[in-house]
Amino acid sequence: MEFKNEWLDSLDKNVTNKGNIKKELDWIIVKLKKNLKLYGEAYPSPATYNGKYQIIENREWTTSFWTGMLWIAYEYTNDEEFLNIAKINTDSFINRLNTQYEIEHHDIGFLYTLSTVAAYKVTGESKYREASIKAANLLVERFIPQAGFIQAWGIKLDTEENRAIIDSLLNIPLLFWASEETKDSKYRDVAKQHYQKVISNIIREDNTTFHTYYFDYDTGKPLYGKTRQGYSDDSCWARGQAWAIYGQALASKYLCEDELNDKFEEVLEYFVNHLPADSIAYWDLIFNDENPSDRDSSSNAIALCGLLEKIKQEKELNYNYLYLIKIMLSNLQLSYTTINSDEQGILKHGVYSWHSGRGVDESNIWGDYFYLEALYRIYNNRWNSYW
Ligand code: GLY
Repeated sequence: MEFKNEWLDSLDKNVTNKGNIKKELDWIIVKLKKNLKLYGEAYPSPATYNGKYQIIENREWTTSFWTGMLWIAYEYTNDEEFLNIAKINTDSFINRLNTQYEIEHHDIGFLYTLSTVAAYKVTGESKYREASIKAANLLVERFIPQAGFIQAWGIKLDTEENRAIIDSLLNIPLLFWASEETKDSKYRDVAKQHYQKVISNIIREDNTTFHTYYFDYDTGKPLYGKTRQGYSDDSCWARGQAWAIYGQALASKYLCEDELNDKFEEVLEYFVNHLPADSIAYWDLIFNDENPSDRDSSSNAIALCGLLEKIKQEKELNYNYLYLIKIMLSNLQLSYTTINSDEQGILKHGVYSWHSGRGVDESNIWGDYFYLEALYRIYNNRWNSYW
């Protein structure tokens, strides 16, 4: 792996010290407590508006990031206040599942990994296990067997929605978990087929990623890539590249080497070599310091979790990965958090959807979640991650 960025020289060696990580976790906990009072049993919106999340009911693909933060906060503090609200949240996910409310999409994976699966891993209560398996069954129903992929959006077999998207790599850990839990290989088989279909088509020759990719429903023939949230069809959306980094790291936890067609290093290398001087990604990697745009700090938080997952799996310490973790973490910590402001988010300078103007240069709830997850992974390297 060859890195070309000058920021690699500016390493703050102390950033991953336990004391530093604890300090960072502690101010986040204070902010979560404050936010908890504001949201009650409701949820923050996907992104802030002028530094404030709107309060929403349990809908959208993003509400579980708040719930996941509550579960991590409980694991870190043992504070019953976090436990109580995390359980109330999780019950509302069970209700959402039972009433089939806004779950006709593949983000069932995000939603139930960070709510019911997290709850089951933390408490061991069987109702969370049952709900998680029910959610996994629903995700399996979106699989198109003759084409070999899980349809991302819309009603199944909708003629305009014959595509998978790179973000889906974070949805399939729900299926891997379900197979391990039930000993029924059907979930793993679906996840594996989907993973292989996505990885072998959505990553371009130059190791950039398409955001979405269309397939023929009847034969699975790869058709063409297209963006939705990236700058253009042939650019590389930063968060998509980060989903590919973390998604591949997670897949390698569950699949064997010969099943993986692993491009983790190549995709990571492209991401790293297209970061600006302070190492925090522009929202699309087409931008650079000579031709700048808004940052998407959440991309770095996601990539950080990918690196931390990978480093945990490898027998020998990978110093390249460690170096990247320290750099990206120290730059986020230095200039991209809300530590000294009363904004509700934790990471600032994210982009949700640049084309629609939604959440541009704002906090977003997954950026907050993955930053917290990254810190907690370092704090507790034996953490049983929810993915
Ligand atoms: N999964 C949607 C997004 O990353 O914005």
